[in-house]
Amino acid sequence: MIEVSVVARNNQAQDICSFELARVDGAPLPAFAAGAHIDVHLPGGLIRQYSLCNPPWETRSYLIGVLKDPASRGGSQAMHEQMQVGQTLSISEPRNLFPLSEHARRSLLFAGGIGITPILCMAERLHQLGAEFELHYCARSIERAAFIERLQASPFAERVHLHFDDGDAEQRLDAAALLADPDANTHLYVCGPGGFMAHVLDTAKAQGWPDERAHREYFAAAPSNHDNDGSFAVQIASSGRIIQIPADKSVAEALEASGIEIQLSCEQGICGTCLTGVLAGEPEHRDLYLTEDEQARNDQFTPCCSRAKSPLLVLDL
Ligand code: FES
Repeated sequence: MIEVSVVARNNQAQDICSFELARVDGAPLPAFAAGAHIDVHLPGGLIRQYSLCNPPWETRSYLIGVLKDPASRGGSQAMHEQMQVGQTLSISEPRNLFPLSEHARRSLLFAGGIGITPILCMAERLHQLGAEFELHYCARSIERAAFIERLQASPFAERVHLHFDDGDAEQRLDAAALLADPDANTHLYVCGPGGFMAHVLDTAKAQGWPDERAHREYFAAAPSNHDNDGSFAVQIASSGRIIQIPADKSVAEALEASGIEIQLSCEQGICGTCLTGVLAGEPEHRDLYLTEDEQARNDQFTPCCSRAKSPLLVLDL
């Protein structure tokens, strides 16, 4: 954990604030690579992940962008309402679940709304590398598009294409045209709301883009329907102990109630922190972290949200 304070706070767009965080002791922060995020520990015990959006060679401070989400589970609201300049808080070291493939001949970056944050950092890095790339940034309107001034003043401004829902038809995102050539030397990166990501990734898949060149980062899972959740059991492989998972509790919650702690962070199947090996049984994957192929192997699952199709899962714990 690193103790930081908010050294700057700026409105970047309607309902989007940026927060610049620097170490309380004035020392440099750990280096990070484009696509990395930090866990921010908020008052009340909430932990939220935010992508770093400053250029990845800067270690004097970290910059994050936070959308005030009306459907917030408390995190974005706490950031907007409580994090003023001078406020101290704890953060994790950066982790990167959305790394750049820096040797790609060409990169296509797609950002929707607040999904611009890791994409911005990637664009900075690709420009530094002298790599070929295009950045497509979609937002409901220019008022809701964060970091526009920075993008337009950047040395890679001519590579940035803006697409607004309330703009003319000719400036709308044409994903099918942009993804028409799934060239083996081109990598695709997508970050944004679920509907935007599904549109870009489904289009990519239909055009023949393989998963390993279609990189994605989700920042919120769609609310899931728990009406048909059933109960099942998990067995702890190391002890043989069997724990019942009731319909109204996650595996992680039931394990915790039995004294077995699983490290959690997003609790939505996005970050992979809770990933746990499965030695027998069939999980019902509800995460957005594992690829389809990884899920199909059924040898690991995310106990914060995933459940079981079989009556028993044997966990590698
Ligand atoms: Fe993030 Fe489970 S805690 S995937």
